[in-house]
Amino acid sequence: MKAERLFFALWPAADWQANCHAALKGLLPGKSGRAIPAHNLHITLAFLGAVRPEQRACVESAAETIGGEAFTLEFTRLAYNPRNRIVWAFPLAAPTALSALVTDLREAIAGCGLQTEHRAFFPHLTLVRKASPMEARELDGIPPWQVQAFSLVRSETLPSGAVYEVVREWVLRPAPASL
Ligand code: 2AM
Repeated sequence: MKAERLFFALWPAADWQANCHAALKGLLPGKSGRAIPAHNLHITLAFLGAVRPEQRACVESAAETIGGEAFTLEFTRLAYNPRNRIVWAFPLAAPTALSALVTDLREAIAGCGLQTEHRAFFPHLTLVRKASPMEARELDGIPPWQVQAFSLVRSETLPSGAVYEVVREWVLRPAPASL
């Protein structure tokens, strides 16, 4: 079997994706760039690149060892990133449980023989690619996302754009109720 292009992600439910997309209507640069369709909205946790079958088995076993906790994400900021010409939405601060999840995941997969990301993790939803610059602004219409799982996702690049398939999911522990 040949290598597949895989990444770990937070993958929202279809209704959250649709609500988020609807909340952004009119706020994104309309004429330029390639808007990401609602069903492709996600947060990348760790990009793995080309993964051979034995490496996939290794990262899946590694993911099983992660004992992460569920958390809520609130996207309160919309901005243009000149480095990669994307428009992205992001929370002002990453929840501790999310940072811990990414640190643990990166550490767990380190022995699987993949060239993984060394840059600091910055959680974001990519909304438009090849975008024109726009002013950063506050966002208040995106519903909070209750993140209860993380996923392994396969990506294929077709002439019509990226096609993603969630191939496996790991449920996070419920967060302890706050007093
Ligand atoms: P982006 O949205 O910030 O561009 C699937 O392709 C996901 O993996 C995308 O969401 C993309 O993040 C990220 N990605 C793609 N290629 C990558 C690379 N070479 N290094 C790190 N992340 C990458």
